[in-house]
Amino acid sequence: MPERMELLKRLDIATEAANAAGAVLQQLQGNLQDVREKRPGDLVTEADRQSEAMVLDILQRHYPNDSILAEESGALGDLDTEGFLWAIDPLDGTTNFAHGYPAAAVSIGLLFNGEPVLGVVFDVFRNELFRACQGMGATCNRHPIRVSNTRLLQHSLLVTGFAYDRRETSDNNYAEFCHFTHLTQGVRRGGSASVDLASVAMGRLDSYWERGLSIWDIAAGIVLVREAGGQVTAYDGSPLEIKSGRLLASNTYLHGAMQTELSRVQPLGQALPQHPTKVEPV
Ligand code: IPD
Ligand code: CA
Ligand code: CA
Repeated sequence: MPERMELLKRLDIATEAANAAGAVLQQLQGNLQDVREKRPGDLVTEADRQSEAMVLDILQRHYPNDSILAEESGALGDLDTEGFLWAIDPLDGTTNFAHGYPAAAVSIGLLFNGEPVLGVVFDVFRNELFRACQGMGATCNRHPIRVSNTRLLQHSLLVTGFAYDRRETSDNNYAEFCHFTHLTQGVRRGGSASVDLASVAMGRLDSYWERGLSIWDIAAGIVLVREAGGQVTAYDGSPLEIKSGRLLASNTYLHGAMQTELSRVQPLGQALPQHPTKVEPV
């Protein structure tokens, strides 16, 4: 585990990078000239590239020896060595951003020996800066944040997402989406994994699950949720394998129920689970 002072120093630099990249995104919002599809539905724009260049410039100036995994540039340095690895999504929520739908962020996570230890997520539409370091709590615009108190699925509001390979696999999360829509007050599809995780950390949403994610989508948000009192694991509650791209995050109270229901999901077209008829007062 890195020293507290070392982490705090890195938190400052990550904050500087997220703010600078966020300003780049805010300036480009509504004025994109170059929107391309990497594959069907998976967009990349000059905003992704310029934001990433800004983050890399700042991190590499301060930490030239650290390894980096950034969505648009790929691996910089050796990803298998022990020590620090930055995981950067310069624009998480590109589809939203390109359409002007207000949910997108710069996400900067830091792993130490493979474990997420620091996260900064800057929501460029709401001007909210989420920050967390392992063992030090989580904040939004420097105010401490906490997960929700919701204890029953039938009182909960969830969020999920669908990866870009959704048309090529039957493991595309559609059945899970229907299953939980049936059991809860609602399931949102936010379109930005880092904002989804920040929303769980903030207590605006009670749980989040998704598959097909990359390390840069989730490294920062995992730290936010854990440091805000939440839990992040594999779908079955076992320790998270970040490279699996599949995670369950919750306010902790709902974790067991989410695990159970994820294991009960039936293929689409089969009977949906029974919704509890008697709903307790919220
Ligand atoms: C995507 C978003 C989305 C999630 C996708 C991600 P991008 O990231 O986080 O919510 O469902 O799996 O790839 O492409 O906007 O950086
Ligand atoms: Ca992303
Ligand atoms: Ca991205």
